[in-house]
Amino acid sequence: MAEIRIRNTEQRIQGEENVRAFLEQQEVLYEHWDPSKLAENLQQKFVLSDEDKAQILSTFDEEIRDLAARRGYQTWDIIALSDATPNLDELLKKFENVHTHTEDEVRAITAGRGIFIIKGTDDVGYFDVELEAGDVISVPEYKPHFFTLMENRQIVAVRLFIETEGWIAHPYTDESFSSNKA
Ligand SMILES: [Fe+2]
Repeated sequence: MAEIRIRNTEQRIQGEENVRAFLEQQEVLYEHWDPSKLAENLQQKFVLSDEDKAQILSTFDEEIRDLAARRGYQTWDIIALSDATPNLDELLKKFENVHTHTEDEVRAITAGRGIFIIKGTDDVGYFDVELEAGDVISVPEYKPHFFTLMENRQIVAVRLFIETEGWIAHPYTDESFSSNKA
């Protein structure tokens, strides 16, 4: 289940209802899928064949189509990252810049873990959303954020898109962020 860490105060928010209520206030969609639906051999696999990816998509087909119908997503795919990913360190460095998109950024975690760092309302500031398998999040369009991995450096997620141009990253310069260390 997702957990929140508010960077300014180190406050942590745990428990599905609390997490959902906090994210709702911040206009971040949070839902949950049953990660145990996935075949056991795929629950800890981070280097995926095309067949593996197709199997993950078909396992969650109902959840994906339900989300897409409600929110207008047209396409979806699978992203897998781990130490086996070429240039993972460079890739993570590139990720770790606050940016925005013109459409929302949706991720449904099917294995592993990851963190979204999101700029909240002025009274909250930046907060981390620590995600694990089953967590589904949508960061709204124009909301500054970035994504990174957790210590285990392994994740598999479904990404859903309205249009491919919509998720181009636009850098967001924010001096209050650089002085606000993790
Ligand atoms: Fe993004």
